[in-house]
Parts: sequence; C-alpha cells; structure tokens
Amino acid sequence: MAYETILVETRGKVGLITLNRPKALNALNTEVLTELLAAARAFEADPRIGALVLTGSDKAFAAGADIKEMQSQTYVDMYLADFFSGWEDFTRLRKPIIAAVAGYALGGGCELAMMCDFIIAADTAKFGQPEITLGVIPGMGGSQRLTRFVGKSKAMDMCLTGRMMDAAEAERCGLVSRLVPAGELIEEALKAADKIAGFSLPAVMMAKEAVNRSYETTLGEGLRFERRLFHSLFAFEDQKEGMAAFAEKRSANFQNR
Ligand code: CAA
Repeated sequence: MAYETILVETRGKVGLITLNRPKALNALNTEVLTELLAAARAFEADPRIGALVLTGSDKAFAAGADIKEMQSQTYVDMYLADFFSGWEDFTRLRKPIIAAVAGYALGGGCELAMMCDFIIAADTAKFGQPEITLGVIPGMGGSQRLTRFVGKSKAMDMCLTGRMMDAAEAERCGLVSRLVPAGELIEEALKAADKIAGFSLPAVMMAKEAVNRSYETTLGEGLRFERRLFHSLFAFEDQKEGMAAFAEKRSANFQNR
C-alpha cells in the first residue's frame, strides 16, 4: 500500500514505521492517524513480525497534532467527530511498539510516544506539552499519561508552563527508558525490537497486556490478572522449550516467534 505521510519498512522480524511530513515537522493530522493505523495493523496481521518501531526525523518525532487542521474547528465539529478518539485504536495494538524519538516530541507527538510501549530517546530529543500556549490543553492523553510517567509535580509543570524537557531530564524522570547518541537511535531501537521479536510472541503480548493492566486496575486485581496470564503460558510449547533450554544450557528455539 502506498502511504503519503509515513514510510514503512520491514527489517527482519521488525516493522519500522517512520512519520514523514517533513514540511510540517511530522504534525499529526487525520491522514497520519489513518495511515499509521493501517500500517501498524498490517504488521499486527503479519506472522513474520514480532515487534514494531515508530520513529520520526532527526529534527522531529512529531511537533504535535496539526494545529492548522484544528484551527477553524468549532466545538460542534470536535464533539461530533469525537476528535482524537481514533488515537485510542493505536493503544489497542497488541504487538510491542517502541518509540524512537529524536528532536521535538511536542503535544500530540509526546502523547504518541507515550502511547508506545517504551521510549528510546536520542540526546537531541525534546519533550513537551505546549498546548497551553495555544489556549487549549493536551487532548491525546498528555494530562493522564504524562502524570503516570513522571508524577504530578512535573506533569503539572509541563502542562501549565508548556516548557520543553530535554532528553537527559526525560530519562531522569522515567519518561524514556534509554538515552542514546542521536546517530545510534534507530540501530538501538531496532536491536531492542529484534530482541523482543526473538522471544515467544504470546509471552511478549501477555507481558505487554499485563503491564498495561497495571494502569487500569487495583494492585490486587492486577496481580490476579498477571497470575492467570502466567498460568495460561503453560499451555504453550514455548514454555516447555524455554525452560528446557535453560536446564540444558542452550538457547531456546521458540515456535511462536
Ligand atoms: N501543526 C501544524 N504545523 C506545524 C506544527 C504543528 N503542530 N508544528 C510545526 N508546524 C509547521 C510550521 O507551521 C512550519 O510550517 P511553514 O513552514 O508552512 O510555516 C513548519 O512546520 C516548520 O516549523 P517552524 O518553522 O515553526 O520550525 P522551528 O524550527 O522554527 O520551530 C517548533 C519548531 C518549536 C517545534 C515549532 O514548530 C512549534 O512550536 N510547533 C508547534 C508545537 C506545538 O504547539 N505543538 C502542540 C500542538 S497541539 C496538540 O498537539 C494538541 C494535542 O494535545 C494532541
């Protein structure tokens, strides 16, 4: 399928999606959402793919939702379209997806990175929720996800002042999992995704589901949910293989990967 706003490649067992609206610093409009979902769903349906990487350009992962697309919308337009609700579909993807962020990840860009399963950032990355400077507030999850990532005080600081946080601060406060030199960003993200894609896919998908559940439920319910998933993995040959490989001091050869 031909896309206008993204580039799509397969690197071994990894699906790589690159946001590609350079003239608008990868601002996220409806077309980007439609294409991103189509590409990600195609990778989800492809049994050869075990993990995804989402990235942007050196200058911008994404500089936010497309301000020019929103500028003239009325309350009625926004309400009837339930504007931004389509991005929730992105969070329903079941295979792991790593955000590889260089340059600006602002507004919806920061929010999209947080919708991924973890963020690897280049030392050039800059995160922010500058919506307040536009007379609005985050609308793709920033007030909720950023608060869970970095805590109330820093989330308030970011959402109320609209200031940017550099990559070092983002790593320090737990927004990003790894910080790498800009030149190594894609390689590091692809290496991490390839490693994940080498494991048992059902186990990987259940690990993602279990961690995500921790945001939705109480500790007791979450622990029970985790345990049930854990039990269910004993129905897969990959559990037998993984544990046999450990006992026999060899590497595992998982069927479902
Ligand atoms: N929407 C639409 N167009 C955007 C954009 C956005 N979010 N961000 C940048 N662009 C466009 C600019 O309008 C410009 O286009 P033209 O050349 O046609 O004028 C082009 O991208 C390059 O941008 P700049 O000339 O501004 O580049 P810069 O290097 O001087 O500045 C920047 C970079 C600091 C990121 C600046 O572009 C900027 O502040 N962008 C907006 C950031 C922002 O406010 N994001 C939040 C958007 S609202 C949102 O995301 C809501 C939500 O919760 C989902």
